[in-house]
Amino acid sequence: MPPPLRLGVNIDHVATIRNARGGDHPDPVRAAEIVASVGGDGITAHLREDRRHIRDEDLARIQSATDLPLNLEMAATEEMLEIALRHKPHAACIVPEKREERTTEGGLDAAGLHNSLVPIIDRLNQAGIRVSLFIEADERQLDTAIRLGVPVVEFHTGEYAHAHLADDNERVASELKRIADMSALALKNGVEPHAGHGLTFENVQPIAAIPQLAELNIGHYLIGEAVFTGLEAAVKKMRDLMDEAR
Ligand code: PXP
Repeated sequence: MPPPLRLGVNIDHVATIRNARGGDHPDPVRAAEIVASVGGDGITAHLREDRRHIRDEDLARIQSATDLPLNLEMAATEEMLEIALRHKPHAACIVPEKREERTTEGGLDAAGLHNSLVPIIDRLNQAGIRVSLFIEADERQLDTAIRLGVPVVEFHTGEYAHAHLADDNERVASELKRIADMSALALKNGVEPHAGHGLTFENVQPIAAIPQLAELNIGHYLIGEAVFTGLEAAVKKMRDLMDEAR
């Protein structure tokens, strides 16, 4: 039996709705508390350069409201590094970030950015923060992550999710294969593989069935579904689907 698969819930879009009116409702901290109460394994939050959803002050509030580990998604910038070092989340996932993008499009070019990532990873490591790189399931990117000595990689499942939405079975199969192959290669090299982006009730199970994966990070769909069923029910259902696929 593969080890249990952790569910990290990305609560960014609770803050997106809050910020639409500029007040303090709905509060992402309340979402984090609900995730904790229904057996979620972690809270993921992306502090973007433009602060379009999570804001600086949310981080400390989330950290003091729950005991769940916080996975801070961050761009590889000096500003974000300083914030991570101040808050000391359990984990920091380095993501690519373009101001004009709607969401994180594509993985980090770890291979191209190798030299600039070294000092950032070093400082996060020294602070005891578990570093992860959000990369495509691509051998060149994974090789770089292995050389950089990070303990975790998160594979970008966006292409898989797009293929699923387009009912393109051939592409679904090839995307799944590359995520499965790279997960096996990561684990063989001592790197813990995670995955996320675009996962839904409909497409999560083939990903959850990849035995090497240790964690999935899921956000937008769960928060959207919570509008109809409540966050508690949405997280529970995702948890059940993941367990069933294992
Ligand atoms: N993992 C990472 C690294 C991400 O950047 C995101 C999106 O912020 C997610 C997971 C969650 O993706 P989604 O919101 O599509 O579930």
